[in-house]
Amino acid sequence: MPSTVSQAVDARLTRAAIFLVVTINAGARSESAVRNLCGDLAALVRAVGFRVPGGELSCVIGIGSDAWNRLFGTPRPKELHPFREILGVHHAVATPGDLLFHIRATRTDLCFELATQIMTRLAGAVSVADEVHGFKYFDDRDLLGFVDGTENPVAQAAAEATIIGNEDASFTGGSYVIVQKYLHDLTKWNALPVEEQEQIVGRKKLSDIELEAAAKPTFAHNVLTSISEDGQPVEILRDNMPFGNFGKGEFGTYFIGYARSPSRVEHMLENMFIGKPPGNYDRLLDVSRAVTGSLFFVPSATFLDNAAVVAGPAPSLATNSSDIPGQATSKPPLSSADDSLRIGSLKKETGHE
Ligand code: HEM
Repeated sequence: MPSTVSQAVDARLTRAAIFLVVTINAGARSESAVRNLCGDLAALVRAVGFRVPGGELSCVIGIGSDAWNRLFGTPRPKELHPFREILGVHHAVATPGDLLFHIRATRTDLCFELATQIMTRLAGAVSVADEVHGFKYFDDRDLLGFVDGTENPVAQAAAEATIIGNEDASFTGGSYVIVQKYLHDLTKWNALPVEEQEQIVGRKKLSDIELEAAAKPTFAHNVLTSISEDGQPVEILRDNMPFGNFGKGEFGTYFIGYARSPSRVEHMLENMFIGKPPGNYDRLLDVSRAVTGSLFFVPSATFLDNAAVVAGPAPSLATNSSDIPGQATSKPPLSSADDSLRIGSLKKETGHE
């Protein structure tokens, strides 16, 4: 049986990232341009990334619920649905988003160059709904001053937490991702005594050591986000990034959480926004306002590699490929025995410098 290659969901946490959420413009041409980009994405990452050895450039593309219907129709990933807003003590908003590009690298220039290449391909086909350029802040801290990412699963545990297995056989190797942009009230946060901040997060601020269970309030962030299913603890993979804009007075955390089922992240969000029990909510939200919220399916790299030719409405919609921005030549479908990413052929087609 051919193996399925996943996207770089569990790529190492890097110093720079760009989070691009876009909507797909009306029309079959836009959809065709997106499918073609999906097929060429791995080659674009290789072409840009090869220029900086050790730059660890990666890009994960996620596809929203409505966009899936437009691009690929059936079958659909079992648990793909639009982000569900939560009206609890605080409000988790749902905002538009057809595609997510999560671009990571050790350097901003690599992220920026890849985003340029992607958006050039998609010119006229998509509109940017939200764009965040994130950076690592000292020793992986968020702008609240706490180290963020410590308890992430690694290696096999990360794959176990994020990659779909037999539970959805048509989409094995895929994943789900939820993103939210949070804006912090840093003046309010910084006015709190450090001990109170530590109770809210559930860890020591300077040393990042977890508080003793007995010392943690039931509303501590790491209590409300520790969840179980069928009596077993279940995890997600986060790669949050700080960002800021002095002109707009915006300082925040871009939350990104991957999981093999979106219900894990949704369960955590309910605990945070509604509270567990209801009312016992996450006090981080008193200083952090969610201004976006979207859910995406992350198909396997193998699926993407075939996206331009084997999925979606008939390619005859693209009657004249030369007038579609970024339109790549259609590639023959892979044989079932060939699950490679076609490095050679794609390199020839993309024709970079
Ligand atoms: C304002 C946005 C957020 C900030 C600033 C933030 C910050 C943090 C920090 C500082 C930690 C402790 C260190 C670590 O283990 O990473 C943490 C842990 C964690 N966060 Fe968040 N977080 C945010 C939103 C979220 C959201 C929306 C979720 C899930 C829906 C989430 C899930 C988790 C999980 C699962 C842990 C690990 C808990 C554990 O096992 O100890 N976080 N977060």
